[in-house]
Amino acid sequence: MKQNIRKIIGQGGNEFAGQDILSVDQFDREKLTYIFSLAAQMRELVERQGGTDLLKGRVLACLFYEPSTRTSSSFIAAMNRLGGTVIPITQGVQFSSVSKGETLPDTVRTLEQYADAIVLRHPKTGAAQIAADYATRPILNAGDGTGEHPTQALLDLFTIQEELGRVDGLHIAMAGDLKYGRTVHSLTRLLLEYDVSLSYVSPEILRLPLDLMNRVREQGVDVRETYNVADVIDSADVLYVTRVQKERFSDLSQYEEIKDFYEITPELMAQAKDEMIIMHPLPRVGEIHYGVDDDPRAAYFRQVRNGMFIRMALLAAVLGSA
Ligand code: ASP
Ligand code: CP
Repeated sequence: MKQNIRKIIGQGGNEFAGQDILSVDQFDREKLTYIFSLAAQMRELVERQGGTDLLKGRVLACLFYEPSTRTSSSFIAAMNRLGGTVIPITQGVQFSSVSKGETLPDTVRTLEQYADAIVLRHPKTGAAQIAADYATRPILNAGDGTGEHPTQALLDLFTIQEELGRVDGLHIAMAGDLKYGRTVHSLTRLLLEYDVSLSYVSPEILRLPLDLMNRVREQGVDVRETYNVADVIDSADVLYVTRVQKERFSDLSQYEEIKDFYEITPELMAQAKDEMIIMHPLPRVGEIHYGVDDDPRAAYFRQVRNGMFIRMALLAAVLGSA
């Protein structure tokens, strides 16, 4: 199995070796196929033997300036399953020297003295790029403000591909906080590599940012916007639901006004196609009723698991031998 993974990593040259992962714009279809086949190998590996020692002796620093359950844990699990170790600054940077006023450039230049790569989550859009400008080791963007969440979009796309067997030809509807939701921003950009139709469902104040919508339109994508999930649920192949990003609101009363603007219920799911899947990057805070969880179309926890395989694939590609 390890031989297989080494073979895939080496096949056609591993263009990811030593590279930063900052944005989904770094990925074309060929690179996506490469990472997805590696992720499928990782799943087989985990299911067969739990892990391997491919990254033995390698160290990953996880530096999180914002809360996380999935991204931090899955990077840690991924590194452990590949035989490497982790410096986890994930339980609050207030316990690191950031609370003494240490800057991001100094923090990453310190961590790279100990680690071979750094996973960074930060509340400022563009922070991952700034870290990469200063660091000599690879930076993996685990979410930068309202900007991007590239590894999430990779696992989202991998999930669509695995669940439905294809991406081309699908109608993908994204609902919720399209303005601040970085997962929506990254997934939208990644989907422009495919022949899909897109629907965006949100209240007026949470519409997809105009520059991104313009980019979608410029590509000639069949796209629509609506306020009502019921308008799209019967024709969607994928319903991608997101949380209203409370932490991005400067006026919390505005958040309170729209936070409960919709909930996906079993009744609403009755209007969806039998083969539709419902996804969510999580955490959910009321957008999907618990009654939907037992529906076989609820893919969000399978999506979570795929995150570990995708992050194993990325770590093997970035840190593994070319
Ligand atoms: N966990 C995702 C993110 O960090 C989505 C969310 O928090 O709503 O962007
Ligand atoms: N999907 C996601 O990024 O989850 P966390 O915020 O828990 O890492």
